[in-house]
Amino acid sequence: MNRKNTVGTLLEMKQRGEKISMVTCYDYSMSRLVDAAGINTILVGDSLGMTMQGYDTTLPVTMEEMIIYGRGVVRGCQNAFVVMDMPFMSYQVSAAQAVENAGRLIKETNANAVKLEGGAAVAEQIKMIVDAGIPVNAHIGMTPQSVNVFGGFKVQGKGEANARRVLEDALAVQEAGAFMVTLECVPPKLAKLITSKVDMITIGIGAGAGCDGQVLVCQDLLGMNMDFVPKFVKRFGEVGPAIKQAFQDYDAAVKDGTFPALEQSFVKSDCSDEFLAKLDKEF
Ligand code: KIV
Repeated sequence: MNRKNTVGTLLEMKQRGEKISMVTCYDYSMSRLVDAAGINTILVGDSLGMTMQGYDTTLPVTMEEMIIYGRGVVRGCQNAFVVMDMPFMSYQVSAAQAVENAGRLIKETNANAVKLEGGAAVAEQIKMIVDAGIPVNAHIGMTPQSVNVFGGFKVQGKGEANARRVLEDALAVQEAGAFMVTLECVPPKLAKLITSKVDMITIGIGAGAGCDGQVLVCQDLLGMNMDFVPKFVKRFGEVGPAIKQAFQDYDAAVKDGTFPALEQSFVKSDCSDEFLAKLDKEF
């Protein structure tokens, strides 16, 4: 059944205690599959810097790149609610910069919301974006754009002072108008407590089962990440080895001449054998 997920339908899911699914996605063909599977929300994450572009961090990703990937994703889905990540330094400078770039992401991709990292520190930015009519998904806990401050991709909210700060960040982004917050690598009991304290939707990644929903990076979930797999990831498929096998089979078939067979030819018969024999003699 076609039913577009919206801020309203997602908040209703929270109220009914129904879990919300989110997956990252960066292109048209994957977006069609995610949408057909009935996933509620797609995040065009700046993790594309790592999964699609091969960088070590998300920091080099630009607005232009986000827009190009985002357009393909939006064209591929009908029902999923699409959230666009705001890349590093596209919102940190000022609230005015943030609202301008959030506006670009929505206008130029036709996505439904934007996500930005940070708690109380970006409350002003969130408020101005929301006031401009753009739904905001906040992101607290381990915020990958601050990797150089954290000294790596590390769990946040450990210890009493940090736990208090993460809860205060959640309350600050809710107060600023965020309708959804991503809790990344936050201890599970703290994530559950935050979920019980806020009306906005909590989406966990490495934050336990007590959140309103979960997000995973597409390549991790599908088993396409051949190298590092974070501890919190569960592989729901082994697509990477299946793709590699298909490429190996193709390579072998091209080389041993079994591909293409006649049935894979675009035009099976055209000129007569007599005419081809004539051509053969003439040239
Ligand atoms: O960029 C991203 O994919 C994210 C998720 C890991 C939450 O922010």
